[in-house]
Amino acid sequence: MRVTIGRKAHFNAAHRLYNPNWTDEQNAAFYGKCNLPNYHGHNYKLEVKVKGEVDQETGYLLDLKWLSQIIKEEVEEPFDHRNLNLDTPEFRNLIPSAENIAGVIWRKIQARLPKEKNLDLMIVLYETERNFVEYSGE
Ligand code: NI
Repeated sequence: MRVTIGRKAHFNAAHRLYNPNWTDEQNAAFYGKCNLPNYHGHNYKLEVKVKGEVDQETGYLLDLKWLSQIIKEEVEEPFDHRNLNLDTPEFRNLIPSAENIAGVIWRKIQARLPKEKNLDLMIVLYETERNFVEYSGE
């Protein structure tokens, strides 16, 4: 039996969308308020979903306490209350759009999942109540 389990988390972070290959005018025209030079914050909401086979011995797919700890170590501790452009090495050369943040989070959590369990990982990242990105490693 394959099931999907999930854990919700959140973090607050600042960012600025800026493409260094463009002029300031091009950046402002494309990104609008997200390009304002002094940064702005979002209350990011994260859903981490893991699909896989239920372990017959434990009745669990994964221990959610363990998944919660991984999210804390890989996402909440490094990103919460940070300026993503300035404080986190992942975004030094990567535009911190919701798409790219979801990709970074997916790779960090994927690296921690037990390989032998053949799990499918999906990330849903809400940048606002209405805007979200899903990523599952493609
Ligand atoms: Ni923004």
